[in-house]
Amino acid sequence: TSSYSLAVVAGDGIGPEVTDQALKVLDVVAQDAGLTFERTAYDLGARRWHATGETLPDSVLEEIRGHDAILLGAVGDPSVPSGVLERGLLLRLRFELDHYVNLRPSKLFPGVPTPLADPGDIDFVVVREGTEGPYVGNGGAIRVGTPQEVATEVSLNTAFGVERVVRDAFARAQARPRRKLTLVHKNNVLVHAGHLWSRTVDAVAAEFPDVTVDYLHVDAATIFLATDPARFDVIVTDNLFGDILTDLAAAITGGIGLAASGNVNPDRTSPSMFEPVHGSAPDIAGQSKADPTAAILSAGLLLEHLGHAEQAQRITEAVEADIAARAGQPRSTQEVGEAIASRVAGAVSVA
Ligand code: NAD
Ligand code: IPM
Ligand code: MN
Repeated sequence: TSSYSLAVVAGDGIGPEVTDQALKVLDVVAQDAGLTFERTAYDLGARRWHATGETLPDSVLEEIRGHDAILLGAVGDPSVPSGVLERGLLLRLRFELDHYVNLRPSKLFPGVPTPLADPGDIDFVVVREGTEGPYVGNGGAIRVGTPQEVATEVSLNTAFGVERVVRDAFARAQARPRRKLTLVHKNNVLVHAGHLWSRTVDAVAAEFPDVTVDYLHVDAATIFLATDPARFDVIVTDNLFGDILTDLAAAITGGIGLAASGNVNPDRTSPSMFEPVHGSAPDIAGQSKADPTAAILSAGLLLEHLGHAEQAQRITEAVEADIAARAGQPRSTQEVGEAIASRVAGAVSVA
């Protein structure tokens, strides 16, 4: 196909600001490559919740499900109780559309400032489980607000859910030059879930004899992300560990403004969803200060998912060139978007 339907959920805070720039770049690439993206914008997020009390109505979910892919900005707003939009909109989309592979690549582009003195060649991808773990809402609280309050959040891990994401991670590792997979968990303490993850990795490893397997406890993984991130190739981990590790991964590769992600349904039984790793950044929202690069790279992941690797590569190259040229005056969200869009269009000489 060369014609796609795209659901756009720009969301809250800087979500719409960065999504506008991602769409701008996507349009340039698409036009050049003869691809069409039929866009439908969905008004979901804080404004809708305040106006109607809705987060994601069933009918809207079903409409979104009918698209080829989803581009999301960010959700969450200080005026809405924490968790309402995050759970009711973002996580609901991930769960209902069975985005079990939350793909979060980290690459240190040349010229990018990193807090690490000796970063080495950072190029890894975190395959974060996206539909289970402590995110499922399996818990509750009693005697709330009293000194006797008890609150639980029970992590859910199924053999089915762990195996499918582990198998996906192995396949990705096998397709990469270094062919290395690191399971990150905490199986010395979280023995029930941890041992399921470890056993699953051991079992699936037999099918991928050319992939080297490593294991790290999550606490130690944070040490190596800060001291020797070049050791990582593919990391597979649970939903919560993956969330935390990927903000750290962003911080060492130029910051949260560059980190892209895909919520992928590898079976293609529903549309995959692409979004920056960052949130709605209420502290800078409405000021045109947000870096749209993560959203733009997420549109690149979307193109790659739809089978347009060459077009995705053009976005990556334009971003790399833009990053290499970054210096001095801070630019607005629009200026960064336009600079990358014109590099993609070839209007700006990259050399
Ligand atoms: P955040 O990622 O929104 O912000 C963390 C810090 O990074 C802030 O200082 C922010 O200004 C900065 N930042 C984020 N994106 C940036 C960008 N593109 N350019 C420059 N700076 C950027 O995380 P938070 O503050 O923990 O969360 C804010 C809200 O966003 C909360 O409601 C949270 O639940 C939500 N959230 C949503 C998503 C999502 O939609 N995928 C992800 C994370 C957080
Ligand atoms: C992310 C965010 C989300 C997550 C929240 C907002 C539900 O932090 O995409 O990394 O924890 O997955
Ligand atoms: Mn996060």
